[in-house]
Amino acid sequence: MDIFYEKLMRPVLFTQNPELAHDMALRAMQVVGSIPPLRALMEMFTLVKTPRPVRVFGVDFPNRVGLAAGFDKDAEIFKAAGAFGFGHLEVGTVTMLKQAGNPRPRMFRYPQYEAVVNSCGFPNDGAEEIAKRLASAFGKAPRSKRKFPVGINIGKSKITPLEDAAQDYIFSFNTLADFADFFVINVSSPNTPELRRLQGRDFLPNLLGAISKANEDRSKKLGVGKIPVVLKIAPDLSFADIDSILSILFELRFDGICATNTTVDREAYPEMEKGGGLSGAPLFEKSLEIVKYISKATDGKLPIIGVGGITDTVRAGMMMNAGASLVQIYTGMIYRGPFFARSIANSLIWRDSDWV
Ligand SMILES: Cc1cc2nc3c(=O)[nH]c(=O)nc-3n(C[C@H](O)[C@H](O)[C@H](O)COP(=O)(O)O)c2cc1C
Repeated sequence: MDIFYEKLMRPVLFTQNPELAHDMALRAMQVVGSIPPLRALMEMFTLVKTPRPVRVFGVDFPNRVGLAAGFDKDAEIFKAAGAFGFGHLEVGTVTMLKQAGNPRPRMFRYPQYEAVVNSCGFPNDGAEEIAKRLASAFGKAPRSKRKFPVGINIGKSKITPLEDAAQDYIFSFNTLADFADFFVINVSSPNTPELRRLQGRDFLPNLLGAISKANEDRSKKLGVGKIPVVLKIAPDLSFADIDSILSILFELRFDGICATNTTVDREAYPEMEKGGGLSGAPLFEKSLEIVKYISKATDGKLPIIGVGGITDTVRAGMMMNAGASLVQIYTGMIYRGPFFARSIANSLIWRDSDWV
């Protein structure tokens, strides 16, 4: 199926500007999501399930492959993800306030490198609107009845000053908590001015402490368990920066780490757009090194979602060998097609088989 996409569909899609092509793909997936019999039929053929669910930070996943944040920013296609082979999906980045994002063009393809540069800047409908959408989609279905987990990635609204960032994140956390199987705290996108400063000692302990407290308060108030929370980091951090982040995560008993977001490094690619974040094949080495480092530094005790440059099944396997518990893809799907997740899930399934 991936070959069919690469030979026939990709050449047509690539005649469109990247954001339009993305919107077309999103709409097609939305159609699948809105027709339950079609969705169920496709899931039957495409959703690869491990012999028993993979449990990571207390959540059960049907397989180890997820759709990374930024594709389904407004929670429009999460119902369809299983029909394309994904074992989970990360909605967002969602911010407290609805915002338009940066001016277009803000997505650039580099097929010779299997790469993308984007400077989207979190265009999204805002936490309240997205919560309404999720409420009408989920109805009263308890989490345990869902076929695959939905993570919600939250970030800071552009106009909120860094000093008030915690309130912005907590608003989104509280507004969306009823629908999230897990949260991802995004402090690593290069497209919101100064956002990545939140990764530093000056801001991170306060921010993550406030989110932990909101999680605990909610859990006590409703008599329910806490929601697993994961931090998403940039690939441009030094190992010393990462050590400092890990110590904060352990101190606050965070549930995991998502490594990595896009890179601002263009040293090897001077011809590419200077602004924004680079994803796809050129990012792989950096993300892999960081996943390896975190896994070693934590003795494998902190669950890692490995993301960045997984453009084939070999790289997915390498990310798992480096210590990831789950992998995610985005740019790889642009180059390999809508069923790329299925190929990866299939290639990883033997790891969870009893006979290994
Ligand atoms: C067009 C585009 C938009 C993205 N938007 C977000 C976002 O809103 N939030 C986020 O955490 N990551 C975002 N990302 C980063 C991806 O989730 C992922 O971390 C990164 O692209 C590396 O994975 P990949 O090489 O498989 O694409 C975006 C990536 C792309 C290509």
